[in-house]
Amino acid sequence: MFKITTPATDEQFQAYFQFRWEVLRKPWNYPPGSEKDEYETVSEHRMLLDEEGNIVACGRVHLNTSEEAQVRHIAVSAEHQRQGLGQMIVSALEDVARSLGAERAITNSRETSIAFFQSCGFEVEAEAPNELNSLKRSQMVKPLTDNNVLMRHPKWCQELQSIWHDTIPISDHMGIKIYRYTGRTFETRASLNKNINIHGTMFAGSIFSLATLTGWGIIHLMLKEQGLLGDIVLGDGDIHYHKPITRQPRAICIVDAITGSVDNLRRNKKAVLKLQVDILDNDTPVAEFKGVFWVLPVNAK
Ligand SMILES: CC(C)(COP(=O)(O)OP(=O)(O)OC[C@H]1O[C@@H](n2cnc3c(N)ncnc32)[C@H](O)[C@@H]1OP(=O)(O)O)[C@@H](O)C(=O)NCCC(=O)NCCS
Repeated sequence: MFKITTPATDEQFQAYFQFRWEVLRKPWNYPPGSEKDEYETVSEHRMLLDEEGNIVACGRVHLNTSEEAQVRHIAVSAEHQRQGLGQMIVSALEDVARSLGAERAITNSRETSIAFFQSCGFEVEAEAPNELNSLKRSQMVKPLTDNNVLMRHPKWCQELQSIWHDTIPISDHMGIKIYRYTGRTFETRASLNKNINIHGTMFAGSIFSLATLTGWGIIHLMLKEQGLLGDIVLGDGDIHYHKPITRQPRAICIVDAITGSVDNLRRNKKAVLKLQVDILDNDTPVAEFKGVFWVLPVNAK
């Protein structure tokens, strides 16, 4: 399970810059220190940690103007590339840029990363100045409107949200919306105001519901992707709350971490899937939900 964090202590920043140097500078024989520039102190930094706390990806964003954010220094460790982690970091940085009021994100991409940034919704606009006088770069741009976060199968996601709102009306009252589906991560968000408790924080029951619907939703999308039908029910759910939610409730499920298989459905048998949903308050992890979902063949009813 991976977790997005913000480096805060001197030690964390040291590890963050060391990682950036190892992925982005060392292979081209640039010395330690060459990974930093003059915008570090005015930038927002994010890193992705594995379960042991090792950095596996990092990235940075800063504002060029009040409308324009620049994404830079995206790096994913060689062993973890092509697992969707680069997209996770860029999405997190876009969220930061949106919250700072930026209307567009730009990046100066190496030739070899153009396909990656295109997968994140950026488009090549112009040739960019070379960095360190060596690597040819292209300037790429992405408008940061609220509705252009990555959404794979947008029609299915819209349909899923309608299913929730029509069949479980409380999900509409809770302001639960699908925020992003990349094929590798599925994120939903809820309104804090609609789920507030007497302490001014999110009601624990609402957090559980958000987590359950998120798990249910990703399985619904998995079934659609595999052309299968099934009735999804929660067999077991367990949640650990660490901190209250006081800002933006978010629920994220990483698809690769789902265990179990839906193959049984093809034989008209029940399938069992286990998954984890991480609950965040903005970027701060606040709770984890572990769920066991049963998928029952529809024609076996
Ligand atoms: C470029 C980089 C950040 C991409 O991160 P990543 O975690 O491997 O990328 P993701 O898994 O999120 O890729 C998402 C999509 O981008 C595209 N993509 C990513 N890397 C690609 C590559 N090398 N060639 C072609 N397409 C690529 C694919 O469409 C991919 O989806 P798929 O795997 O389902 O086909 C990473 O490879 C890296 O750190 N490279 C070295 C440093 C670097 O060049 N950084 C960019 C600075 S400008």
